[in-house]
Amino acid sequence: MSKDSVTRSATKILLDGGDPDETRRIRDRLGFLDGQTTNPTYVAKNPEVQGRVASGHKLTEKEQKEEYKSIVQRISPLVGSAGVSIEVFADFNTTAEQMLAQGEEMYGWIPNAYIKYPCIPEGLRAARMSVERSIRVNMTLCFSQEQAAAVYAATKGTYEPAYVSPFVGRLDDRGENGMDLVRSLKRMYAHGDGHVHVLTASLRRLDHLVYAIALGSELVTSPAKILEEWAAKDFPLPDAAFRYNAVDAKGKPLSPIPYKDLDLTAPWESFNLKHELTDLGIERFVSDYKSTLAPAYPKAG
Ligand code: E4P
Repeated sequence: MSKDSVTRSATKILLDGGDPDETRRIRDRLGFLDGQTTNPTYVAKNPEVQGRVASGHKLTEKEQKEEYKSIVQRISPLVGSAGVSIEVFADFNTTAEQMLAQGEEMYGWIPNAYIKYPCIPEGLRAARMSVERSIRVNMTLCFSQEQAAAVYAATKGTYEPAYVSPFVGRLDDRGENGMDLVRSLKRMYAHGDGHVHVLTASLRRLDHLVYAIALGSELVTSPAKILEEWAAKDFPLPDAAFRYNAVDAKGKPLSPIPYKDLDLTAPWESFNLKHELTDLGIERFVSDYKSTLAPAYPKAG
């Protein structure tokens, strides 16, 4: 399979990371890169940020924000039409207004930004307000069809497609078939107006990427390692013989996640947004964000 065939496939390919040098390397290796997703964990792992922390200089909130801004400003011109997703700081006390204020500022950093809000009630409210202000959004930490249905309802009227990011690897990690969620979202959204695009995220292996393409996921974001493996194998795409093997790293079968019939015309507030992995995801992002901050700056406003 050639790179040209890949660029003609319907699924946009994004890099999941937070290091502009890595972005350049992957873009050169693939010959293209449609976009990039970042998050607080990747910012904390960025080599410059790590270097500063290792030399004994933990960051202030302002410095942290400047680092994040500089990272995405260097990534922005390297990627294509799928843009760069930038994640707001959100813990369980962050209000939608606080998320929106961050989102509005971050949206001004680069011309191709998507603002990431978590799939929790305040995140959905921030998304609604963002859409009303023509801010592109990527709804992250999605682990259920209910959350994705709420994303659909909350982002209706968006001027450009809203992204929803099902985290397949974290579902696999606990024995559930994360790719079932992607399949269900595509099936559910087929009843809608197409304003939400599925961005398959949290990849653990190359088969996740190939199956996301087979399912018609509009976008898929992948760590550099998997994209390098994809390129090394000459960009395999799903053919008629492709079968996804729903097993964990030890070969144990993953439990299916059943499809649910949900009413996409219902108000977003009517859906049950609670999911344990969303809460754990927020805790992990907060902890990684704080890991690079000086003690006097325990959290973002
Ligand atoms: C993408 O937007 C996510 O932040 C990312 O895919 C998370 O992946 P992980 O489960 O490997 O942390």
